[in-house]
Amino acid sequence: MWWANDFLQVERNALLIAGRRATAIAERHGTPLYVYGRSRILANYKTIRGLLAEAGPGLESRVSYAAKANSHPRILRLLEGKGAWLDAVSPAEVRAALEAGFPAGRILYTGTSVSEEDLKAVFGHEGLTVNIDALEQIELMKEVRDRWFPKRRIRVSVRWNPGVGRGFTPRAVTAGARAADGTPVKFGVEDAKVVRAFRQAVRSGFVPVGLHQHLGSGWVKEDFPAVKEAVRRMVAKAAALERGGLRLEFLDFGGGFGPRFHRTQGLFPTDAYVRHILRSVALARLSIRAVAVEPGKALVADAGVLLLRVVYVKRSYGNIIACVNAGTFNSVPRPAVYDQAHHEIINASRVASAASVRVTIAGHLCETGDVFGKDRPLPMPRRGDILAVLHAGGYSRSMASHYNSRPIPKEIVV
Ligand SMILES: Cc1ncc(COP(=O)(O)O)c(C=O)c1O
Repeated sequence: MWWANDFLQVERNALLIAGRRATAIAERHGTPLYVYGRSRILANYKTIRGLLAEAGPGLESRVSYAAKANSHPRILRLLEGKGAWLDAVSPAEVRAALEAGFPAGRILYTGTSVSEEDLKAVFGHEGLTVNIDALEQIELMKEVRDRWFPKRRIRVSVRWNPGVGRGFTPRAVTAGARAADGTPVKFGVEDAKVVRAFRQAVRSGFVPVGLHQHLGSGWVKEDFPAVKEAVRRMVAKAAALERGGLRLEFLDFGGGFGPRFHRTQGLFPTDAYVRHILRSVALARLSIRAVAVEPGKALVADAGVLLLRVVYVKRSYGNIIACVNAGTFNSVPRPAVYDQAHHEIINASRVASAASVRVTIAGHLCETGDVFGKDRPLPMPRRGDILAVLHAGGYSRSMASHYNSRPIPKEIVV
């Protein structure tokens, strides 16, 4: 099985999660249920840390976990304990990180459409760095700081938009002028305004410490050339800023690199990417002290599964539909939200069978798009079967809503 690892294994054709039968876990805790694996998260973290270790002694490297992927307190505590940094995009994520033990000095707040209320909440935490998303945001920042925290020296970085973006769907592209579907990209400060943004930040009494970019999410192998080009632009920009007299502490290259969601997907070469960043930074002889990456999915997606129960199998107009006891919007919304999102689905008690049929796994929401998977080749499902939706560790619970007044599944960490 291409997805098997230390978290998910197959024994006697049954799915094991961290060494325990998935059906037994489902029976004990009920379904629907999210199951997260500590050891897989740690292994993913270790892999990225290991790649960054090549940074050498003069350069600090930061793995800044994007809490939006999954802000379960135990996951935050686990990563905090390993020395991770944290990428927060809302005051509530900042609070969750602080409660999990992250010192404010290891949190970067990257907001978008940032309000006065947001700023007041995040400025209250001394040592936290605020990422500027718009030139127009600085005036508001100054007003809020002057009114509520007049003495505070607030560290800021600029999230610039390097003009090139990349993501698994146009909706996950966060840089460039417009996404491929024509949506104007709202994120970051455009190239021509970056120097002005730093100048205005300094004039307003903020302390500039970094330059940041995030191109988008869910990169695959084919994205590498575009991503490399964006690294080149970022390093060139940092060098130009230095020549202009600005001394920065860090460059943050954002997140975006993902796990293998699909058997046939070409995997993004994270090792070559990290090496490329380190080599580019070294060649440019920048005086920065640290580089950062911000993985979300890459740390947690493959460390989670959603267990569901088949309530009955319906046949209609030649379709075989496994009707399950959860809704996508309430549990794993990605397939309903993004046409391009794929989550592998496994029958936990009959992982493989000689004969498979095409099965659509449909949720219990009043919505045609509420399907976890369409026409999947699976053993013929039966009432009571437990299905596992893979890669439910990232952007699942954190994106889930109560649509149709349905509850959000319980979570366990194993
Ligand atoms: C600023 C920022 N950093 C990091 C991430 C994490 O992206 P991923 O989960 O694809 O690694 C995101 C995702 O949207 C983001 O907006």
